[in-house]
Amino acid sequence: MVDDTRWWRSAVIYQVYPRSFADGNGDGIGDIAGIRARLPYLRDLGVDAIWFSPWYPSPMADAGYDVADHRDIDPIFGTLAEAVELIDEAHSLNLRVIVDIVPNHCSHAHRWFQEALAAGPGSAARELFWFRDGRGEHGELPPNNWTSIFGGPAWTRVSDGQWYLHLFAPEQPDFNWANPKVREEFEDILRFWFDRGVDGVRIDSAALCMKDPSLRDLDPDDSLTPETLAEPGQARPPHPYTDRDENHEIYRAWRRIADSYDPPRALIGEIWLPDTERFVNYLRPDELHTAFNFDFLAAPWDAAALHSTIDATLAAHAPVDAPATWVLSNHDVFRHVTRYGRADTSFTHDHEHRRRQTGAPSDFALGTRRARAAVLLSLSLPGSAYIYQGEELGLGEVEDIPDDKRQDPLFFRTNGANPGRDGCRVPLPWSGDAPPFGFSPPGAAAPPWLPQPLSWRALTVEAEKGDPDSMLELYREALRIRRDEPALGDGTMTWLDAPAGVLAFYRDPGFACVVNMSSVDISLPAHETILLASNPLVDGRLPSDTAVWLRVDPPA
Ligand code: NOJ
Ligand code: CA
Repeated sequence: MVDDTRWWRSAVIYQVYPRSFADGNGDGIGDIAGIRARLPYLRDLGVDAIWFSPWYPSPMADAGYDVADHRDIDPIFGTLAEAVELIDEAHSLNLRVIVDIVPNHCSHAHRWFQEALAAGPGSAARELFWFRDGRGEHGELPPNNWTSIFGGPAWTRVSDGQWYLHLFAPEQPDFNWANPKVREEFEDILRFWFDRGVDGVRIDSAALCMKDPSLRDLDPDDSLTPETLAEPGQARPPHPYTDRDENHEIYRAWRRIADSYDPPRALIGEIWLPDTERFVNYLRPDELHTAFNFDFLAAPWDAAALHSTIDATLAAHAPVDAPATWVLSNHDVFRHVTRYGRADTSFTHDHEHRRRQTGAPSDFALGTRRARAAVLLSLSLPGSAYIYQGEELGLGEVEDIPDDKRQDPLFFRTNGANPGRDGCRVPLPWSGDAPPFGFSPPGAAAPPWLPQPLSWRALTVEAEKGDPDSMLELYREALRIRRDEPALGDGTMTWLDAPAGVLAFYRDPGFACVVNMSSVDISLPAHETILLASNPLVDGRLPSDTAVWLRVDPPA
């Protein structure tokens, strides 16, 4: 392997969502055998690392983010021995491996939670979670007013009358991170995977672990947005369960563990916070290495908005010397081809916004054109970048999944008001003219766990491979250039003068990216050669919704 201990500063990391990547045994669900068979595809795509969403034993109430045992593999996916072989095989192909760690909560089937239920009120076993008596005369009301991120109350009552906290689904009880046993357990889990060779971990819901021990009610004034502070720089009262200062101690301890390995392992945070200053606190030199840039993902297809998001990102990361990351999609959000084809191209988790966006008209050709330009943007900004499986094929959100096929608790807990995330989790199309599109082997016993649209016949790996106009070949070419191009990856950038609606920046040495988001075509800045264009130029001019990579002289 390349001996670069700071690989995470420049890496392009491909997210494999194991249920939906490739099915080796024909039960309609992706698995480790399927992934192993497709590793050469990922090597040929040209990514540096693979992040696996959870593959641990789980009742799958939240597609595996309800972990029953962090030290094993769910039989649906395979065995621990197979996972270790997969890690070794990936390494032999120069692909680094990142596994998902879910510290905020576990599954209700986790041994500790089952012990806590059995042990009853007041027991040490219950101290590992947040069990409380209810309010009201007979304890019939939840202990406080917190609501679940998936909708409904954040508390569920058990048979002896106590309630337990779950910020997500009831099948995902929150750990009590004030308890040292929880800390020791997760430190041991980190070592377990680091000892098996994984190069880093992605940390789920990383800003939620610590809670206000008083479990005080959420107050209407509790907020995480900087705009709500009357005075800039004024201290915001700590939120009862999001971004509490005590979280940082957890990650300092994790960093010491990651650094004790040779080479050091990388820590990547899933942190959704509206306040970029608070966000980068998690990236101080003794904490996490990087975190997903959701501001970039949420930004609309608009040059001014993206310009200011990029500026804010880079300005916030500089003081902590952490690399920025650039993310367009993941398993929790609308696929960006569909998002970019709509009138409203932004993303938020707000249930109402998601409801309005779902089924809103989306122009697939326009979304595709913008997605092609967007990937040249994200792969040329300074830092590391993420690719969510299937975006390299140009897949759109699947919006017509029948309700009886849906699986996401977000859909059920909001009574369908929020369509949930199944539409971005549909199994990948690999080959052929009809479902399962090579996702499962011939003669598979079951269809893919979510139905694939027929229109995907044009978007299979087989259909796109070798077609110079395909999304797949654009990604492959962009990643090939990025690997060879000293200007790309970690580093700095300089904005170049550009007309309204256009982003143009220089990366040293000798590289420029120009993205035209305006409605008119524009002339290109002086350049030596065109390295790559997301769509053909027209009479030497850069059309609307097109990006180009150029070999240029440094700006004067
Ligand atoms: C974030 C994960 O990405 C999402 O899929 C999951 O539902 C929640 N955390 C809860 O684990
Ligand atoms: Ca399978």
